This record gives sequence, C-alpha cells and structure tokens, in this order.
Amino acid sequence: MSLLKRKKSETAESNGSGDAEAVAKPAKPGRMSQAKDLGVHHGTQAGIDVAGWVDSRVNATGIFTAMMSRHVPKGTNWFYTLGSATMFIFAMQAITGVFLSMYYTPSATQAYASITHLTNEVFMGEFVRGLHKWGASLMIILIFLHMARTFFFGAYKYPRELNWVIGVVLLILTTVMGLTGYLLPFDQRSFWATIVANNITASGPIVGPYLADFLRAGPDFSATTLSRFYALHMMVVPGLIAALIGAHLFFVVKLGTTAPPWVRAGRPKGSRPEEEVTAGVAKEDFDEVPVNGAVVAAAAAPPVDEADADAAEAEEVEAKEAEETEAAVAPEEPAQEAAEEAAADETAPEEPPADPADAPDEPGEGEVNQ
Ligand code: HEM
Repeated sequence: MSLLKRKKSETAESNGSGDAEAVAKPAKPGRMSQAKDLGVHHGTQAGIDVAGWVDSRVNATGIFTAMMSRHVPKGTNWFYTLGSATMFIFAMQAITGVFLSMYYTPSATQAYASITHLTNEVFMGEFVRGLHKWGASLMIILIFLHMARTFFFGAYKYPRELNWVIGVVLLILTTVMGLTGYLLPFDQRSFWATIVANNITASGPIVGPYLADFLRAGPDFSATTLSRFYALHMMVVPGLIAALIGAHLFFVVKLGTTAPPWVRAGRPKGSRPEEEVTAGVAKEDFDEVPVNGAVVAAAAAPPVDEADADAAEAEEVEAKEAEETEAAVAPEEPAQEAAEEAAADETAPEEPPADPADAPDEPGEGEVNQ
C-alpha cells in the first residue's frame, strides 16, 4: 500500500469509530503504534510520511526510476560513465564555488586580498579553492573525453543530433566558465592572460570585436570588467549549463544510449529500426540488462508480453507485405478483365443484369477501373 493510501485509510479508520472518539484520538497515535510495531522510530516514520507526500505531488519516484532503472544497451562499458563524471565535476564546482563566494570580493582593489585571506586564513579554504581550481581543468578534460566517446560510438547520429548540438553548446559554456573564472583572483597572471584572451576574441570574424567589447564591459579593460566576469561566472553561465544539462539528460533518458559500434556491427542490417529507440533501448539490446547494478541475464529471452508484441508485429509486417504484393498485381487484373469484356461486347449483345440490385456493383465496361 502506498504511503498516501495508508495515510488515507488510517484517517478513515480513526474517523469510523465515532466523532467524539475521532476528536479525542486523532490519526497520529495509530500511525505511531504502527511505527512502533515495525520497530521504526517516530522521527523516521514522520520523515517517510513527508517523503511520501512530496513524492505523491512531484512523482519523484517515477522520475528517479526512469533515470536509474532504465535499460542500457548490451556492451555498455566504462566509457559511458564519462558524461556522468562530467556532471559530477559540474556539481562539485557549483558546491565549492558557493563556499568560495562567501569569502571572495569582486572588486578590483580587494579581489586579490580576499583570495589571499581565503587561502591562508580560512578553515579548509586552500583545500576548497584547490578542488575548484583542479575541478575546472578536470571538467574540460572529461567533457572532451565524453565528446570523443559519443563521436567514436556514432552517438551523434539520428535521432540524437539535437543532443549533440546541446553538447556543443555545453562545451562552449564550459570554456567560458574557464575564461571568466581565470580572471577572478586578479593577480598579474590572471590579469594579463585575460587581456590576451580578450584580444584573441576581438580578432574573431564579424562578431569578434563586439563580443570582446561585451566581455570587457567597454572599450578598455577596467574594474567593471571584473564585475562582469564575476556575474557571468557566478550566475549566467552556470544557470545556462544547469538548464542545458537538464535538457541533455532528458534526451538521454528519452532516446536511450547508443550501443557500442562493435555490438551494432554484429546485427543484420536493418534489424534495429530507430523508432524502437524511443522506448529507451532497442529490443535487440535487451540481452544483458543491468538493473540497479545487477545483470539480468534472463532478459536475453524476451518476456512473454514482449514475445507477444513481437508476434503481433511479425503478423503486421506479413499482412503489409501481402497487401503490397496484391497492390502490385491488382492493376493488371481489371485491365485484363476489361479487355476480355470489351472483346465479348463486340460479339454478344448487351444483356440486362439478372438482379437489378447487383447492377451498380458490376464494373460496367471497365469504367470503374480506369
Ligand atoms: C557539461 C557537460 C556535459 C555533461 C554533464 C554531459 C552529460 C551526459 C550524460 C550523463 C550522458 C549519458 C551517459 C553517457 O553517455 O556518458 C550524456 C550523453 C550524451 N552526450 Fe553529454 N554531457 C556533456 C557534454 C557533452 C558534449 C560536449 C557533447 C558533444 C558535443 C555531448 C554529447 C552527448 C551525446 C550525443 C550523448 C548521447 C550518448 C549516447 O547516446 O550514447 N555531451 N551526456
């Protein structure tokens, strides 16, 4: 019984024993004694109730199940973890970034001092800053490795082109995070490196000069440049990345992941209609399906309803083929009939139909089939 249903039935039970009693004894004691019977602490039971209530409103279990218990293709390997690894680093950057922002001052005169204070005096400051700094490089490396995996496994092809395009935008935004973050310590190195990067941007065709002006917040590199980089680094770009990761994952769950090329190469050509991918994974990929970490080898034999579905599909294909064959033969028959009839008409006088009711159904002198 779901938590919500249980709660409802408990309320009904307590109300069923009379109004006065219901007022004197609300639903709570019943639930608590039940929790006691199960050896569950009151606090834990309350937590479960709250979780059940939230779940019934947002369907978190459904979303979680779709994400975590989806079927993955046969041959899925460690290379498929690179996207999740990139996502993990992004989450780590967001968390460490929040802590760094508690001590950082985005001002041209105080930025460097605030970073020095954070590194040398704040508890674990150097560690958190180190995580954020190394995490930035690691995210760039992982994103390229993930992109290489999707490229070499042919995952950019139909129907996943849009996810590839979203990925390209994510790659650009991740490099923008690197560029905008590099200036923030505002030491000699970050200052001059950003000037060089900005000049390179300005040399770009058509939009280059405008983009460089936008980043600099004017024609000259100034204190406002730092504020602009800080706003982009703190809010605009991470917000866009988070939203795009959401869209990226939506497509991963909706379309399923691509089987490795060596698994696909083993299949006879055309045995994996792409429409089946919409179900999360093609049927042929069901051989070994890890569900929550366990490999369900039994899935190699399709379940009964799956087999039924296959049989129905085979019947449908047969019927379609038969129809097509008929259609290919059909036009010749009426033509032949019409010719025969025309020949008969020349020799024999026209006879009225035996049953007048049948008359309209008869293809009269080949007109119907012309
Ligand atoms: C912030 C950056 C990114 C994150 C967090 C991310 C995350 C993920 C995750 C978790 C998956 C599913 C598991 C996997 O295949 O690894 C995935 C799949 C995919 N990603 Fe990314 N990704 C990012 C960037 C990119 C980039 C730069 C590209 C390409 C330009 C890309 C293209 C794809 C494609 C095409 C798939 C589908 C893979 C398949 O069908 O097998 N992603 N991504």
